[in-house]
Formats: sequence, structure tokens, C-alpha cells
Amino acid sequence: MSSTQSVASWYANKNVFITGGSGFLGLCLLEKLLRCVPNIGDIYLLLRPKKGKSVDARLEDLKKNSVFETLLQSKSVEQCFSRVKAIAGDIAEDGLGISASDRQILVGNVNVIFHSAATLDFAEGFKQTVQINLLGTRQVLALAKECRNFAAFVHVSSAYVNSFQTESEEIFYPLKGDPEDIIAVVEKSSEKELEERSVELLNGHANTYTYTKQMAEKEVEKMEKVFPCAIVRPSMIVGAWKEPVPGWTASKNGPQGFLMGASKGIIRRLPVSKELIYDYIPVDVVVNQLIVAAFRAGSTSSKKLEIFHCTSSTRKPFTWSSVYGQINSYLHTYPLKSAVWYPHLKLLPSVTWFRISALFVHFLPAIILDGLTKLAGGRPILMRLHRRQHAKLQEWLTSEDQVMFNLDLSSLRWPEFFGDLARGVRVYLNHEKMSNIEAARGKDTMLMVLHLALQLAIYSLLWYTFACLTGLSMSKSMLVVPVFYVLFSFV
Ligand SMILES: NC(=O)c1ccc[n+]([C@@H]2O[C@H](COP(=O)([O-])OP(=O)(O)OC[C@H]3O[C@@H](n4cnc5c(N)ncnc54)[C@H](OP(=O)(O)O)[C@@H]3O)[C@@H](O)[C@H]2O)c1
Repeated sequence: MSSTQSVASWYANKNVFITGGSGFLGLCLLEKLLRCVPNIGDIYLLLRPKKGKSVDARLEDLKKNSVFETLLQSKSVEQCFSRVKAIAGDIAEDGLGISASDRQILVGNVNVIFHSAATLDFAEGFKQTVQINLLGTRQVLALAKECRNFAAFVHVSSAYVNSFQTESEEIFYPLKGDPEDIIAVVEKSSEKELEERSVELLNGHANTYTYTKQMAEKEVEKMEKVFPCAIVRPSMIVGAWKEPVPGWTASKNGPQGFLMGASKGIIRRLPVSKELIYDYIPVDVVVNQLIVAAFRAGSTSSKKLEIFHCTSSTRKPFTWSSVYGQINSYLHTYPLKSAVWYPHLKLLPSVTWFRISALFVHFLPAIILDGLTKLAGGRPILMRLHRRQHAKLQEWLTSEDQVMFNLDLSSLRWPEFFGDLARGVRVYLNHEKMSNIEAARGKDTMLMVLHLALQLAIYSLLWYTFACLTGLSMSKSMLVVPVFYVLFSFV
């Protein structure tokens, strides 16, 4: 049976609390709620002071984020954000680090919670990950339990929490260990001791992130009968498909990070298998899923917690082969004025192959260009850069909401998506406005000429060196040039 109520009418006058509102997903969620749910109540954002910035300063910075540009075309900053309030806190602290007066406001007012805050660093140690991802979730659930008029809790999980399975369904799988044991071990051990026992403690999980996110899901499950809740498990979240603008992104992870470096001419090789399915999910689809999941949990009488996978691989599988033919043309459709070399991206099937190739096309040019930059009195950066390196729910919605909160990936075309993403990476990650595109195209042509001239110089030098070493004449040793060309095409 489909819903007779609209998403927006369910949210009308409901007050929402968001954790992780300053992150990639949280920003997009806030924007969509402000743009598409006009009668929403107050939106409380849990923010922590960071990098010397107070919570109020962070809220002011957040309002300037590019995600709100579309919204701000029709409204003033004051109109847009009048109902958005910062709550100072930290999910790693007891009671979320929230003051007693703020907690009273939240307990008295909050109806819906989206819990998105997490540490996503796969290399993060047990102490921090358990504190933020597991105990942080427990703290947010405790707040939800206290709220007097609570309607729905949505927990943002990950499609990879059960990555020890070869197939994963929208169910809970048994935990590999007891969270209380893990918490106790983490409390009494040093980070070094935890690191030494990591293989044993991880219990078959790939990293502390997937393990603590799986344990966090179990915390949510304990609340199934206490209040309405849902879990959304996204795969790798990538830039926007449609909203607020196609290609919008604030994340440098995954393909957008690759495109960011490639458009500068810095990243020229990637170790990705062209035929493997990479599970990318656009951020606007994840946001719609979160909003609809809360609506569904809060408006159905069932006390059953629902888990929603938010992934593309079974409905719209993406392989790099589907965009490989176009990827370089996107880089030249949206060139950068700040490019350091002529962009050209090549995909290599193995990490070993990538490492060998990177020696020639990443590190060697980086050393040379950094040397030149240093000589010119600039700050060398290239070496540093190289080192860092769901349908049942849709059908349940009213026909208007199926459009407004689209969850259907059937019309997603990956090549077009990547074209938009290349533009989004230019504007939102490399911070180049479209007004300089003609100047950037001029520079792109100049870099192409330099790139071809350099190749000509390298092949000529190799040809000449070969002729000198073998004593053959230049004309007789000419065949060495196509041989070198073929050899170089492998790296
Ligand atoms: N990105 C993906 O590909 C992906 C895929 C699957 C699932 N997810 C899940 O989606 C959620 C959001 O991810 P994202 O991509 O938006 O990550 P993100 O950009 O790194 O944002 C993380 C958010 O969590 C907040 N946070 C971290 N530690 C905190 C603490 N101790 N106290 C308060 N806030 C804290 C951060 O606040 P600050 O601004 O103060 O750092 C930030 O707002 C996470 O639960 C993640 O597990 C993400």
C-alpha cells in the first residue's frame, strides 16, 4: 500500500537534529530539507569547535558553502537559515558534550534525528573510532530516547559493514565480537597495544571503520521497540546527480578526487580495473533516501526497524570502461587555468603496474617541476600531493514525491554523470569559476603543445642516444622510435 501523505506534510513543523551536518552528506541533507520542506520546524546542527573556529563561526562558514547557491538565488541568507541553530557539542564526549540548557531545548523540541557524524578514516586507531562511531551513536540514541515527542531516528551506516559477507541483504548479520568486550579492551589498552592486536580485535573486518559501524547498527537495533528508527547503508557516496546542481561535490574521496588531480595534470595514472563494478551512489540519492526513511519509519505503525541499502551496483552498475572513452575529453571540456601540465588520464589494471608507471609519469615530473618551482622561489607541492593520495520505497511514495525525493536510478547515465562531475570538480573542488573557461581552454592548448614538444624531445633524445651507443646512423636506427613509443604506452 502506498502512502497517502506527502513527505513535506509529514515534516511540517517537525524539529530536526542533525549530527555530521558540516560533512559532505550532512550539508547536502540540510540543503534539501531547507529547499524542499518549506514548513519544516527548527533544524539543530551538532557542531564542534575546529581548527581554532568557534561553533558560531563554523555555522557562519557553513552558510557560505556552495551547496546553498541554488537556494540563495531566491532567498536571503537570513530567510534561508532563520531556523538553523548550532548546538555546540562533540559526539566523542559524554552526553555529546552538550550543555544542560541545550540538552533541555533538544529534549523538549526534537522530533527527528539524522545521525550522520562519524570518522571515516580507515586507518584511524581503535580508540578514536570506537569513541566516535560506536559510543557516539550510543550517545545520540540516548538523546533520542529522552526526547519527549520523538518521531523518527535515521542512522547513516555503510554498505560495507558486512563486507566479510560475499552477499549482503537488508538485514542484520551477527556481530563478530561483543561490543562491551571491545569497549573494555579499548579503555584499558594503549593505542600501540591495540595496533599490535588489531588483526585479532578486528575479527575478520577490514578496518576499524566497518567494524565500529557494524557495532553502531546493533546499538540502533536495541532501540527498535523504543522509537521508530531506520538504517540507511550507502556505498561510496559521489557528487550530485541532479540536486542541488549536477556535479556538486564537497568530497575529495573516490572519483571526484581522481578527477580533481587529473584536471590539474598531476594524476595521470590510476590503478582501477576497467571491468570491475565500482559501487558509486550520488549524494542527492542518499539524501532523498535518508529523508524518506525517516518519513517511512515515523508514519508507519510497524515497530520493525527497516534497513535500506543505498547502492548502485545491482541496479545501475558502474564500470570505468563505460566512461573511459570520454574521461579525457571531459578533462578538456572543463580545463583549469591552474593546471600544471596537459591532463591525460590512463587506467592501469594493477597496483604494481601503477607503481612502475607512477615512477615515470608522477614522481619524476614532480621532482623536476618542484625543483623548477623552488628555483623560481615558489613552494614545491607536487611530491607532497603524490604522497597523500534502493525500489519498494520509491513506489510507496506519492507520485509527486517520487519526483521530489527520487530514489530511482533507472535513468542514471554514468557517462553523463561523469561529465557533470568533471564540471563540479572544476567549480567546487578546484574553485575555478566558469567565467574563466575560455582562458583555461587557451592554457589547455598551450599545455598540449608543450606536452607534444616534450614528447618529441624525449623520443629524439632516446633515438640519438641509441644511435650513438650502437654506432648506427640516425636513419638506420629510426625504428627504435616506434619501439620506444610502444614500450612507453604500457606505463
Ligand atoms: N562518504 C562516503 O562515501 C560514505 C559512504 C558510506 C557511508 N557514509 C557514512 O555517511 C556519514 C557521513 O559521511 P560524510 O561523507 O558526510 O563524511 P564527512 O564529510 O567526513 O563528515 C563527517 C561529519 O561527522 C562529523 N564528526 C566527526 N567526528 C565528530 C565528533 N567527534 N563530534 C561531532 N561531529 C563529528 C564531522 O564534523 P567536523 O566538520 O567537525 O569534522 C562531519 O560533519 C558517515 O556516517 C559515514 O559513515 C559515507
